[in-house]
Amino acid sequence: MSNPILNGSGLAKHFRSGDKDIEVLRGVDISLAEGEFVSIQGESGSGKTTLLNLLAGLETTDAGEITWGEHVVSSLKINSLAKRRRGFIALVFQSYYLVPEIDAISNVGLGARIAKIDGDWRSRAESLLERVGLEERKHSLPNTLSGGERQRVAIARALAASPKVVLADEPTGNLDEGTGDGIIALLKDLCLEEKVGLILVTHNNIHASLADTKYHLKDGLLHQTS
Ligand SMILES: Nc1ncnc2c1ncn2[C@@H]1O[C@H](COP(=O)(O)OP(=O)(O)OP(=O)(O)O)[C@@H](O)[C@H]1O
Ligand SMILES: [Mg+2]
Repeated sequence: MSNPILNGSGLAKHFRSGDKDIEVLRGVDISLAEGEFVSIQGESGSGKTTLLNLLAGLETTDAGEITWGEHVVSSLKINSLAKRRRGFIALVFQSYYLVPEIDAISNVGLGARIAKIDGDWRSRAESLLERVGLEERKHSLPNTLSGGERQRVAIARALAASPKVVLADEPTGNLDEGTGDGIIALLKDLCLEEKVGLILVTHNNIHASLADTKYHLKDGLLHQTS
């Protein structure tokens, strides 16, 4: 694999709840190469979402360093992180977070427009919708699509921003097994084709095993399992 596109070293994070400190991450090291597929498993509450939030710059670290490409970003303020994140990191969640009032193609196009992708956002959105098998539903509103179809739109929207990295937090958590398998296969193939690094948080052993590198988060530390 080539140079790391995303790197986290010594990442620590605690939360304060009442008068109690919860040490969630206690020195996590993680590295993602261009086009690499990494999976993270771990019990509920082990800190998987917290780790993705740190890597995405949605939350600040207590300690450790995060780099996006060449840039150390862990010292930046949340506002400048947001600017840099566009076009570098895209997120896919368990809930699809589509805009309900606009059709599938406009939802996908939002990804490109927010990232200020040059050129014709509509044709990029159209080709991505075609790639996820939804070209015939491009004018459908999200509430007329199934869960699996909505997640396909969300994946197309993530890739429309031409990111270097996709962070996916239990993207199949709301879907039945067969639909979920199809979503992960699609996400994996699309990221590979577009040379996008993928970090997948999942409770599904089969999905996790599809990754190039597998990690398990336990007691605040990340352990490589293969
Ligand atoms: N903003 C917060 N304030 C206080 N505690 C928090 C906050 N966010 C997360 N936590 C705590 O940090 C721990 C890790 O939470 P996190 O959401 O990262 O777990 P997870 O591994 O993603 O779990 P799941 O598999 O259920 O999604 C939990 O104990 C949670 O209650
Ligand atoms: Mg979580």
